[in-house]
Amino acid sequence: MRKVLIAGNWKMNLNRQAAVSLVEAIVQRFASEGTVDLALCPPFVYLETLAPLLKDSSVALGAQNMYFEKSGAFTGEVSGEMLVDVGCRFVILGHSERRHILGETDAMINQKVHAALELGLRPILCVGELLAEREAGQTEAVVRQQMTGSLAGVSADQMPNIVIAYEPVWAIGTGKVATPEQAQSVHADLRRMIEECYNAQVAGAVRIQYGGSVKPENAKELLSLEDVDGALVGGASLKVEDFLGIVAGVPK
Ligand code: 13P
Repeated sequence: MRKVLIAGNWKMNLNRQAAVSLVEAIVQRFASEGTVDLALCPPFVYLETLAPLLKDSSVALGAQNMYFEKSGAFTGEVSGEMLVDVGCRFVILGHSERRHILGETDAMINQKVHAALELGLRPILCVGELLAEREAGQTEAVVRQQMTGSLAGVSADQMPNIVIAYEPVWAIGTGKVATPEQAQSVHADLRRMIEECYNAQVAGAVRIQYGGSVKPENAKELLSLEDVDGALVGGASLKVEDFLGIVAGVPK
């Protein structure tokens, strides 16, 4: 049985005071019933401020990116060791905004995945097609390339520590959520690909989140789908009511 993971990707939003208030409200109101894991991924600069607020809670801290080298002359980058040092347990890798705005390639993301796994950080690996790719019937090929490229060399033993997030680019920040049929179909494809590359046991263990305009109004239906094991939430993770409204949509 896969445990649902709801993660908030704050992207480049909030200031320190708003970040603290949001975390305090979530921690206070989130009653873990053991059926759902929660993770929050604030901007780097707030990680250290927020870590103590999450320390004794059942909410995990995550980062939105990292560099694959351990240390050195990489101006502006943050290493995985630094993330572990401040208390992160998850790291989002290969988000479409990093792929499409900042030019990250599958090869680069693959190096980051390996670096994170070596440190015990759990990667949330994002994959997803552009609208033009979906319209051209290329969705399966695109997510296959992204997933296999980003996971090259990852062993079956390491796979249960990976979370996949299927985020169709056309659904991110647009209010256009994938239909349940579209989401379930790609999630099932991804699980089948994992089975092909590894085995049925690994495929059954890996959590696959959906991301893209998840809101309290659509969360329940998406989270009830057979192969949807959680959500990676952008805009709606910035408001406590919306975020916990999504958590409330997790099937009991
Ligand atoms: P929205 O929930 O704002 O569409 O963003 C999704 C996303 O990119 C999460 O990583």
